[in-house]
Amino acid sequence: MQQFTAGTRILFGLESLAAMDLGRLLVVTDPYFYKDGTAQSLARGAAEVSYYYNVSPDPSARLAAEGAAAVKAFQPDTILALGGGSAMDCAKAMAYFSGTRARLIAVPTTSGSGSEVTDFAILTHDGVKHPLVDPKLRPEVAVLDANLVAKLPKSLIADGGFDVLTHALEAFVVKNATPFSDALAVAAFRETLKGLLPSCRGDLQARARVHYAATMAGQAFTNAGLGLCHALAHSLGGAFHVPHGRLNAILLPAVLVHSPSQKYGELARLAGLEGSAEAVAQRNLRNALVRLRRELALPSTLAEAGVSPAEVRKNAEKIIKAALSDPCCDTNPTPVTAEMARAVLAEVTGHG
Ligand SMILES: NC(=O)c1ccc[n+]([C@@H]2O[C@H](COP(=O)([O-])OP(=O)(O)OC[C@H]3O[C@@H](n4cnc5c(N)ncnc54)[C@H](O)[C@@H]3O)[C@@H](O)[C@H]2O)c1
Ligand SMILES: [Fe+2]
Repeated sequence: MQQFTAGTRILFGLESLAAMDLGRLLVVTDPYFYKDGTAQSLARGAAEVSYYYNVSPDPSARLAAEGAAAVKAFQPDTILALGGGSAMDCAKAMAYFSGTRARLIAVPTTSGSGSEVTDFAILTHDGVKHPLVDPKLRPEVAVLDANLVAKLPKSLIADGGFDVLTHALEAFVVKNATPFSDALAVAAFRETLKGLLPSCRGDLQARARVHYAATMAGQAFTNAGLGLCHALAHSLGGAFHVPHGRLNAILLPAVLVHSPSQKYGELARLAGLEGSAEAVAQRNLRNALVRLRRELALPSTLAEAGVSPAEVRKNAEKIIKAALSDPCCDTNPTPVTAEMARAVLAEVTGHG
């Protein structure tokens, strides 16, 4: 269905939390932000506070179910999700499974997932990543503060940035794209393509622009949908635990070749990449992504990311089956076939 909802209220700056009545507050975060005191500093205005701070990357369905029990036991008025996509997804799933009416506030500390504004929560179970998709998962409030990403390690900036580029590109080409999602997708793609390398080199203004772009791309894809690149990133991420954005960096240029769309060239032109003829513009888009990936020292194959080609080949059919049943395939610009997914997988496996 083509539709557009801008459901989440977006606040700028952590100080906006001080003006809110948080009541009984449950903070969901990963150990990093509990140990460094950020979680405690955000909880200052709460009447009472409890912490669920053991979220690990690619949260499991079990962790979210345990967290739902913690929600039921504490009965919060507010759940504050502080962290990257993993902490935010875990908090969203905890709220969803518990059936709480608590208000959900998401504070992203990476610039990537866009989870602070999306209807998605990705949980891992038995080596497979399952996207939960429901409007009830969308946070009521997102607080964006680029100070939270000022000390982000370079590799996390690069990984997250490629997640943003992939969200924006896929949201732009999918079947349910609208002029509203396109506007956000193009702005997010352009800003990230331009700003990601300077951000990695320490330009904090560029980093702030990419931080906002991550949320814009999240709004674009939660309305329009995603495609084959994310379907494969989910199945490979569940199987091999390579960071999600890094998988997108490996997959996206190959997906451009094997999953056709009329709109790749249009995005290239809108992003300022030269080439008026369709084929030239498309090639420029792929070249720009490959060049940026190299400049950011990101891997170009699964082998370079530490995944043994023998393991990929052994599990190939399982990976393809999981990708084909991922809901992201439903919105791909052209119907996804096993051959298409196999061709992408073969191109990114690498040697080793
Ligand atoms: N719900 C959605 O819409 C959506 C969309 C895309 C991806 N995802 C999911 O999000 C997850 C990836 O999220 P992510 O890329 O944000 O990473 P992440 O949340 O998995 O975090 C990665 C690591 O970065 C650390 N970290 C986070 N912020 C930091 C900071 N400011 N400084 C230092 N370290 C920091 C964390 O402690 C963690 O060890 C994946 O599970 C992916 O499937 C969800
Ligand atoms: Fe993603």
